[in-house]
Amino acid sequence: MIINIAIDGPAGAGKSTIAKRIARQLSFIYVDTGAMYRAMAYYFIRKDIKPEETERIEEACGQADISIAYENGEQQVLLNGENVTPYLRTEEVGNMASASSVNPKVREKLVSLQQKLAASKSVVMDGRDIGTKVLPNARVKIYLTASTHTRAQRRYEELCAKGETCDLEQIEKDIAERDYRDMHREISPLAQAEDAVLVDSSHMNIEEVVERIIEIYECNSR
Ligand code: DC
Repeated sequence: MIINIAIDGPAGAGKSTIAKRIARQLSFIYVDTGAMYRAMAYYFIRKDIKPEETERIEEACGQADISIAYENGEQQVLLNGENVTPYLRTEEVGNMASASSVNPKVREKLVSLQQKLAASKSVVMDGRDIGTKVLPNARVKIYLTASTHTRAQRRYEELCAKGETCDLEQIEKDIAERDYRDMHREISPLAQAEDAVLVDSSHMNIEEVVERIIEIYECNSR
């Protein structure tokens, strides 16, 4: 039987780390939908398209074929056949992804790909609109969040560990802007689905969050 778990929440809430662990524990496939929006955004950046150039975004969207593959259990995103995964986790790409994901053509294309994946395999899928739009019938829906400051601090540490120069204040400002955009866009804004369980990880470590979500999954599976 195919079972889907939807995890939504704002940037830096720890969705991907948590979703990956849960997928591993339950032997489900992990699907990072943010990486798909990032791959599309990376394509726009490469084409020197600005977030406000709607027509160019829509035209380029038709030329960008996004697919996913797995290497040693890790999701890889292919853009027109090229593995672009190593280039996706920068602030520039994240900001462009937030801005370009308001476009209905971009969303339509990626939502359809996400729904196909979830129809063929049990997945733990994370994003912004998974519980509300992509998988409205998911067995378990989680809305994972944390305070803006905690999320900025985590993103700062993640970037520092990768050796990237970064500024905590700027990251916090970017996160607040991105939250605002993701929550206020017209189509599929980031929101907690009515039947989602809220998990605030501000004062929880990774293990505690994983344990809590597995507990929710087990309750829903009885
Ligand atoms: O989760 P992330 O930071 O990798 O996502 C990057 C951007 O992609 C995010 O700011 C908004 C967009 N996104 C979206 O609109 N819908 C999703 N399901 C996932 C991401």
